[in-house]
Parts: sequence; C-alpha cells; structure tokens
Amino acid sequence: MELQELVDEIVTRMRGQQLRSGVISQPRLKTETAGKIKLKPVEIKGVYHIQFESHFDQTLRHKNYPLEEVEEAVAACLEQYRQLQLVWAGETVHIQLSKKKKVSIKRTANDEQAPTVLSHNRKKNYVLDPDTIHPFLVHLGVQAKDGKIKNQKHDKFKQINRFVEFVEDSLAYLPTDRPLKILDFGSGKSYLTFALYHYLREMKGYEVEITGLDLKKDVIAHCEKLARELNYDGLHFKVGDIADYNDAQQVDMVVTLHACDVATDLALGRAVKWGARVILSVPCCQHELFTQLESPALSVMTRHGLIKERFASLATDSIRAQVLDLVGYDTQLVEFVNLENTPKNILLRAYYTGATPKPEMIVETKAFLEFLQAKPYLVRELDDQLKGVLT
Ligand SMILES: C[S@@+](CC[C@H](N)C(=O)[O-])C[C@H]1O[C@@H](n2cnc3c(N)ncnc32)[C@H](O)[C@@H]1O
Repeated sequence: MELQELVDEIVTRMRGQQLRSGVISQPRLKTETAGKIKLKPVEIKGVYHIQFESHFDQTLRHKNYPLEEVEEAVAACLEQYRQLQLVWAGETVHIQLSKKKKVSIKRTANDEQAPTVLSHNRKKNYVLDPDTIHPFLVHLGVQAKDGKIKNQKHDKFKQINRFVEFVEDSLAYLPTDRPLKILDFGSGKSYLTFALYHYLREMKGYEVEITGLDLKKDVIAHCEKLARELNYDGLHFKVGDIADYNDAQQVDMVVTLHACDVATDLALGRAVKWGARVILSVPCCQHELFTQLESPALSVMTRHGLIKERFASLATDSIRAQVLDLVGYDTQLVEFVNLENTPKNILLRAYYTGATPKPEMIVETKAFLEFLQAKPYLVRELDDQLKGVLT
C-alpha cells in the first residue's frame, strides 16, 4: 500500500465515524515532535470532531478537527511518525512505516461496536477540569498519573463534580468571617470528602476544618494517611458512631452521602441541633419506615414488596424534607446523579433560614403521618424541636 492510499483509507473511515481510539507514536525527529498523539472522537457544539491529544512538558494539548479538515492532520502525522494503532468499529489496525515510508499493516478483528462520542462541551462544564491533574483524584484512583480519567471511574468523576456543584451553590449560605466547620458523617472511602476539601480550600481559598467520621477503622486510617500525604491540613478523619459523636460544639455544614438507613436521620438530627447552615444529604437504604407501614389505607401498595420498599423510601425522604422545613430550613429534594447510574439519586439540600413554619405545612405533615400510621425516625429524633409544632 502507498502512503497516499493509507491516508485515504484513514480519512474515509474517520469520515464514516468509525474511529473508537488511536495512538500515533515513534516520531521520526525525536527532538522536534511530541512523544505520542492520542486520537478519539469528540462532539463540540453538536459537531463530530477528531481530537488529537499530545503531551508537551507536562501539559496536555488538544487539537480538534472537524471531519472536513482531518485529511491534512492525518497526512502531517504520517509524515512525522512511524507507528499507528487505530481502533475502528470491528477492526484494529497496526501500521508501521519504514524509514523510506514503506507501509506495513496488520489487521485484527475486534468487538468494538458503533463509535461513541464523548461530549466535549459537557466535559468543559465540570467544576473540576478533567484535563488538569488533581493529585487527590490520582491518589484515589479516579485519574491516572497523566491525568486521564480511568475508564471505570467516569461515573465517579461525574458524581464528584455534581457534588461539588451543590457545594458551590451553597456558598452563599455559609459564614465568611471564620473557618468553616464541616462534618461528613459516614464518610467511607471519602472521595467526596476529599473533593469538598479540594474545592473549598484549594480552589476557593476558604479556611476549613473538615472531619470525616465513619465506623470503619481501616478505611479511616487509610483516609487520614492520605490527607497527611496531600498536606490537607484542615482535613481529618475519625473513627466513631454518628450517634455518639459529641466532639463538635458548632458546625456550619453537615454532609452525609449514602449513610445507611437511620444513620442519615442521626446525621440530620445532629445538624439541626447544631444549627448547621447547610445540609447536603444523599440518603441510602431506608428500612426503618418500611417496618412500620401497616396502615390498611396503604395495603394496595404495600402488599407488593418492591412497591412497599420504594414507597417507604420516598415517604422517608419526603418526611425528612418536611421535618427540616418545620424546624427552620428551606429544603429541596433534587436529583443527584442520573437514575441510570444509581437508584440512590435523591439529594436532600437544606439551607437554614430560621423561618417559622406556615400553619398549612403543620396541618399537612400531621395528616400525612396519620395516613401512614407511622412515626419515622427523624420525627422521633427531633421530638424536642418539634414540640409545640406537631404536638
Ligand atoms: C455506603 S457508605 C458511603 C460512603 C461515602 N459517604 C460515599 O458516599 O462514598 C456508608 C458509610 O456509612 C458508614 N456508617 C453507617 N452507619 C454509621 C454510623 N452510625 N456512624 C458512622 N458511620 C456510619 C459506613 O461504615 C459506611 O462507610
């Protein structure tokens, strides 16, 4: 095959939107050219492009070519480089060019299906730039050392960014005249706790004292070690049960992400008692109300285990929001991440306003609890605060 034929084949296949990925390597002039170039399809403002990614002096460079302009870029690469690996839908092609530009090709079938296009625009909207190396994300295994988001970690990266967006929206409700005290209850592996610190301290410059609390000793020891390695001076991890946590006097923000069952209620209860200005909570499994749902009025639903579980879960979160409103918060239940990624996709966001509840809100809460014939955990937990309101 002649070099021009090779260029024609590559360009035709690119224009047919068959490219999955590619690597161009072995520069002819090592001193003048970049090491490797990676290729992938991207969508920019709804238009299909091929992205050429190169690495110079620790900096990633991206050039995006619409299909009508790829021929020149491909021809230039074949002038400057000697090796290509192109993964097309259905076939992987290894190309070696000799010093005299003689072409050798090896073709193998692959299982790649229709090409996928990552939206470049969506990427650009992330609070944490996906093209920048974030040391905490490298340590947590979300980014590789070169900054590339690892294949299995795209959903985690999205989740982290979504969470940081919620933190960004909450800034107006937080004090600015003193270091922020934040508690993350049930912090587990703490991807989001590290993200919270990174965003507030490293990106926004806030003085923060963030504590991650969890029952698991080994996980907490690992997170504490990592926080020290990253020099995240205001981030600490402690072993403990939310129910017994009494170390803090005043807390500005309480976070609970996927804390199981009533661990979420315990955390919400603590937040209210501290008068936290901001609460961000993604509840997890809700079994507690499930066991109380015996009302005959609900039997049409609750005789089906699956429906009962979902109903209990939605009712629990609705009551949590309602109770927080009754004790002076402005609360919304919003979508956290896409339902297709996880069913645990409701985020409870509450900002303290100190507002007195409207009489109709009290009436509707009482009516709902009566209809359920149940007393959910948070209602019991905040018995004192709700005295005179619900009783
Ligand atoms: C599903 S994990 C979520 C971890 C992390 N927040 C996340 O979103 O990736 C729930 C965590 O809550 C912790 N947990 C459950 N009940 C707790 C309690 N009463 N006190 C402290 N931690 C608790 C568990 O040990 C577990 O690590």
